[in-house]
Amino acid sequence: MTDMQSESAPALHVSNTVEAVPVITIDGPTASGKGTIASKVAESLGWQALDSGALYRLTALAVLRSGVNADDVDHVAQVARTLNVRFNGDKIYLEDEDVSAAIREENIGNLASRIAAYPPLREALLQRQRDFRQPPGLVADGRDMGTIVFPDAALKIFLVAAVETRAERRYKQLKAKGFSVNLTDLLEDMRARDARDAGRQSAPLAPAPDAITIDSSGLDIDQTVQAVLDLWSSKKGSG
Ligand code: DC
Repeated sequence: MTDMQSESAPALHVSNTVEAVPVITIDGPTASGKGTIASKVAESLGWQALDSGALYRLTALAVLRSGVNADDVDHVAQVARTLNVRFNGDKIYLEDEDVSAAIREENIGNLASRIAAYPPLREALLQRQRDFRQPPGLVADGRDMGTIVFPDAALKIFLVAAVETRAERRYKQLKAKGFSVNLTDLLEDMRARDARDAGRQSAPLAPAPDAITIDSSGLDIDQTVQAVLDLWSSKKGSG
């Protein structure tokens, strides 16, 4: 393995300051649109955004590239601990290389879903995710944002959509990026990934008890963003 240095910054803030920073979590299955919705909500509020799935994808890519055996749980967690990553706007860097497109490939998503079941890996990524909680606020998307990473989030959304709708959205996205894809394979992969993300022992995909479910099957992006912003306004108003 290469000599990778961790870039996760030490937490300089005192914990009560961090806890005062509001967090909106958006969890949901793959291709539910949570990444797009989270970044648009963050933009609209002028807040930070955390795409937690990107950290699992980056780990998967680093595992593949370093030749580490993906079944070796401890070794994979070690890769996560020493990930040298940087987020800059829409761009994501691994070892200073722009891997924004590479981590979106389906094989990387599938490997990310596989290794995301390893508890030591999830533990290794926990503080890195919490470090994104910076003023004036954070919108975090993933699978366990509302349940494990930010259990005290001010607003928790569970974003769902029919698996067929999600497969079609992903198909269009990948096609538009020039990837060659097959809708039937994509649907099958998505079902398998849903089952794995929801069925694993460690931090399975599930709504937090205080999460509000939004079904985006019949909504477009702007309508879904507006639904989240409306919920946030009414939450603030009532809080
Ligand atoms: O959201 P995504 O498709 O980019 O995530 C890739 C994989 O990472 C997903 O299949 C499961 C895993 N993941 C996770 O276990 N927990 C998160 N908070 C985010 C992603």
